[in-house]
Amino acid sequence: MKTTAILLAAGQGKRMGGAVAKQYLPLLGKPVLYYSLRAFEEAKEVDSVILVVGEEEKETVSETIIRQYGFQKVEAVVTGGQERYLSVYQGLQAADCDYVLIHDSARPMLDGEMIRRIFHEAVKEKAAVAAVPVKDTIKFADEKGYIRETLDREALWSIQTPQAFETALLKEAYRVFMEQERSLKEGGIRITDDAMMVETFSDVKVKLVTGSYENIKVTTTEDLSVLEVFCRRKEGKQG
Ligand code: CTP
Ligand code: MG
Repeated sequence: MKTTAILLAAGQGKRMGGAVAKQYLPLLGKPVLYYSLRAFEEAKEVDSVILVVGEEEKETVSETIIRQYGFQKVEAVVTGGQERYLSVYQGLQAADCDYVLIHDSARPMLDGEMIRRIFHEAVKEKAAVAAVPVKDTIKFADEKGYIRETLDREALWSIQTPQAFETALLKEAYRVFMEQERSLKEGGIRITDDAMMVETFSDVKVKLVTGSYENIKVTTTEDLSVLEVFCRRKEGKQG
C-alpha cells in the first residue's frame, strides 16, 4: 500500500500581499513550507511527497528547500494551476498511490499525530478531513450586509488540511467535476477544498477528524505572528 502527500505551494498569497508568497516567508528562520515538508518526511505512514509549486519557483524550491534541508521523500515537483483545485488536480495526475493526503503548505503546524489520525480514518472511511468545532457564532448574511439567519453552532466545523482520500475515489470525483467544469463554474459553484469534490461528485461521506486549533493557515500577516508563538513552543518541545 502506497501513500502520497500532495503538498500545495502554488498560491500567490493575494490576501497577504507582499513580494514573496506566504509559503516561502520565514517562520523562526525557516520557510513556512519547510515545516509541513518535515512532518511528511518524518511520518512513517507517508511514502512520498508531490510538491506543487508555481512554474517559476520549481528550481529555487528544489535547490533552496528540498536539497538544502535534505528531504528524501519528494518524488516530484509539479507546476500548479490558477486555482487551488487545479493545483490539486496537477498533483493528482502525478500521483500513483492507494491513498493521498492533501495539505496546504501555508499550514506549518502539521505534526505526525495529525497525519496518523487522518490517514487511519481515511483507510476506514475512504475520505477524512481535519476539522475543529467553530468557536464563534456564524451568521448567514445577505448581499447588503444584513443578517439572514443564525446557524446552529453545534453543527459547524472549520475545515483544515490534511484531507485524505482513497486515491481512486478522489480521482473519479475530479473526473466527474472536470467534465462539467465550465457549466458548474457558470452556475456559481466554487470549490474551496478537496472534501467538496467527494461530497458533491461521489456517494462517499467524508468523515471529520479532530485537527487542532493551532493548525491555522497563514492567510494575512497577523497569522504569522500567532504562528511564531505556536511554532516556538513546538520547536522547543522537539529540542
Ligand atoms: N494553492 C495552490 N495553488 C493555487 C492556490 C492555492 O497550490 N492556485 C495553495 C497555497 O499555496 C496554499 C493553499 O493552497 O498553501 C491554501 O490556499 P490559500 O490560503 O488560498 O493560499 P493563496 O491562494 O496563496 O492565498 P490567497 O487566496 O490569499 O491568494
Ligand atoms: Mg487562495
